[in-house]
Amino acid sequence: QQNAKVAVMGASGGIGQPLSLLLKESPLVTELSLYDIVNTPGVAADLSHINTGSKVKGYAGPDQLHESLKGVQVVVIPAGVPRKPGMTRDDLFNTNASIVRDLAQAVAEVSPKAFIAIISNPVNSTVPIASEVLHKAGVYDPNRIFGVTTLDVVRANAFVGEAKGLDPQKVNIPVIGGHSGITIIPLMSQASPSVSFPQDQLKALTERIQEAGTEVVKAKAGTGSATLSMAYAGARFAFSLIKALNGESNVVECSYVRSNVTEAKYFSTPILLGKNGVEKNLGLGKLSEFESKLLEAAIPELKKNIQKGEDFVNKK
Ligand code: APR
Repeated sequence: QQNAKVAVMGASGGIGQPLSLLLKESPLVTELSLYDIVNTPGVAADLSHINTGSKVKGYAGPDQLHESLKGVQVVVIPAGVPRKPGMTRDDLFNTNASIVRDLAQAVAEVSPKAFIAIISNPVNSTVPIASEVLHKAGVYDPNRIFGVTTLDVVRANAFVGEAKGLDPQKVNIPVIGGHSGITIIPLMSQASPSVSFPQDQLKALTERIQEAGTEVVKAKAGTGSATLSMAYAGARFAFSLIKALNGESNVVECSYVRSNVTEAKYFSTPILLGKNGVEKNLGLGKLSEFESKLLEAAIPELKKNIQKGEDFVNKK
C-alpha cells in the first residue's frame, strides 16, 4: 500500500508552494492538507486542477488548524519567516520559535503519531522546541521528529558532482551535525563514489556547503532565502518518510534527530527509516582528521542552539 496523507504547514510560502506542488505530483501522496494563516484557498484550488490522484484541501487560519491535521501521517513544517541579507538562521528564532511551538502543540493534540519534518529555521533549535512541546503533552516519541537537513546533502552532492564531473544524481555525501554554518559537517571521506580533494579545495568546498544558504540569501538580495531547492529537498525527505511508512526497506536519509551519538542531544547522522520513524541511527562512521576538527567546533554551537530551544518552551 503506497500512500499517505501529508500536511504542509506554511503551504502558501516560498517553500510551501513548490513543496506542495512536488507532493501533489507524487503517487506516494494520496491526500494533501495545506495549512497556512493566509492564501491556502487559492493555493489549494490551483493545485487541485492538476490531474494526479491526490486530493487537495486548503485550511486557512488558526480556526482551521486542528481540522488540517486530522488523519495525517506526515506533517511537514516550512512555516515561518525567512532570512534577509546579514541575518543568521538564529536571528529568526524570535519569530519562528513560537510558530513552531504552536504548530507542534496542534500536532500533539490532533495527530500525535504523525511523523513531523521540520524545515522552519533555526532547525537546530526548532526541533528541540517541537520535542519539548510534545514531551509536555505526554505524546513525545523521539523517533518521529525530524529536522530536515536534506538540502545540505543535496547541495553537497551538486557541488561535488560539478567539481568532479560526476552525475550529481549519483553522488551521495553524508552531511552530519546541525543545519547552520559551522554545525554543518559534510563527510567527503564517506562520499559515494569515493572522491578526494587537495586540502585547500576540500576546505573551500566544505565552507561553500556550510554557507550555501547564505549564498542564496545574498543572491536573492532581500527577497528571501532558498525556496526551490529547499522544496526539492523537503519533498525528497517526505517521500523517504512515506516509503518507510509503506514498509520499504533500506530507506536512509541524514536527519537532525534526538541522538546519543555525540554530546549534543540532537544531531544529524544517516538514519535508517522504518514504519515507526527512526529505525536505526547509523552513527558517524569513520571521520577523517579534518572532519573530526569540524565536529569539535560544531558541538558547543549545537549545544547552545539546543538549550535555547528547550529554554524557550520550559522557562515561560
Ligand atoms: N502558521 C502557519 N503558517 C504560517 C504561520 C503560522 N503560525 N506564520 C507564518 N506562516 C506562513 C506564512 O504565511 C508564509 O506563507 O509561512 C509561510 C512562510 O513563507 P515565506 O515567508 O515565503 O518563507 P519561506 O522562504 O517559505 O521560509 C520559511 O523555512 O527554510 C526556512 O528559514 C526559512 O524559517 C524559514 C521558513
